[in-house]
Amino acid sequence: MEQKKAIVVGASSGIGKELAKILSGNGYIVGLAARRTDLLSELQKELSNKSLIKQIDISKPEDAEIKFKEMLIEMGGVDLVVISAGCGDLNSKLKWPIEKATIDANVTGFALIAGISLQHFLEKGSGHLVGISSIAALRGQRSAPAYSASKAFVCNYLEGLRHIATKSRKPIFITDVQPGFVKTPMSRGNNLFWISTAQKAANQIYKAIVKKKKHAYITKRWRLIAWLLKTVPDWIYNKMM
Ligand SMILES: NC(=O)c1ccc[n+]([C@@H]2O[C@H](COP(=O)([O-])OP(=O)(O)OC[C@H]3O[C@@H](n4cnc5c(N)ncnc54)[C@H](OP(=O)(O)O)[C@@H]3O)[C@@H](O)[C@H]2O)c1
Repeated sequence: MEQKKAIVVGASSGIGKELAKILSGNGYIVGLAARRTDLLSELQKELSNKSLIKQIDISKPEDAEIKFKEMLIEMGGVDLVVISAGCGDLNSKLKWPIEKATIDANVTGFALIAGISLQHFLEKGSGHLVGISSIAALRGQRSAPAYSASKAFVCNYLEGLRHIATKSRKPIFITDVQPGFVKTPMSRGNNLFWISTAQKAANQIYKAIVKKKKHAYITKRWRLIAWLLKTVPDWIYNKMM
């Protein structure tokens, strides 16, 4: 049987890095993409299976499009693409460079990579696309307006792509992963509860991939917070925020 192949965009740190290790441990040839190739090279040494490295900055769409397509060709096509790359900072003062960087990576960059991936799977006749959104997608947030809005975009974009995949009648799967808090460089310094390790989060994401789930809360108990966020009336939510 041919070896399975995956690309993890955002593999240099946090959730993407841990997921790349799990995929490699489960027999995948893994393509590792991010901006910091020194970190990707360190990760490569830890992996049990063959891997490839590509420097991609998804916030620079013209260049990212060329590099990501190159990577697909270099790997001879892939079965799975995970887009873990993302950024976001607390920014209630609305500093434009922070808002712009968040939108460039989490919206423009995400849509670009997700779109190329789905096209690839449609041409190939099968495949699985996984995007990492966030519980923050469920409501607007004063502390990080661009981040929560960008993650709502990720959820809705993935839903749209799922409709295209379903219409194609091909075995193409789309998974939206919504983490709560995960201990990674991104969450450092925030006041957090129910925080999971990146390893535990990646393990649960891997299980959701194997089960080809449409959606997964990470960790599972964040389903409760999601329910609360969806049902709490505005006047209470406004006080909490
Ligand atoms: N940690 C949490 O509590 C939490 C909660 C909900 C959702 N999430 C989401 O989970 C995903 C992974 O985050 P994490 O917690 O693992 O954070 P992290 O440790 O900071 O990792 C972020 C990854 O994204 C990559 N990245 C960022 N901007 C990029 C760009 N322009 N081009 C290419 N790669 C880029 C980084 O690589 P380079 O810097 O090397 O490019 C890094 O590999 C993100 O989408 C995040 O929004 C995290």
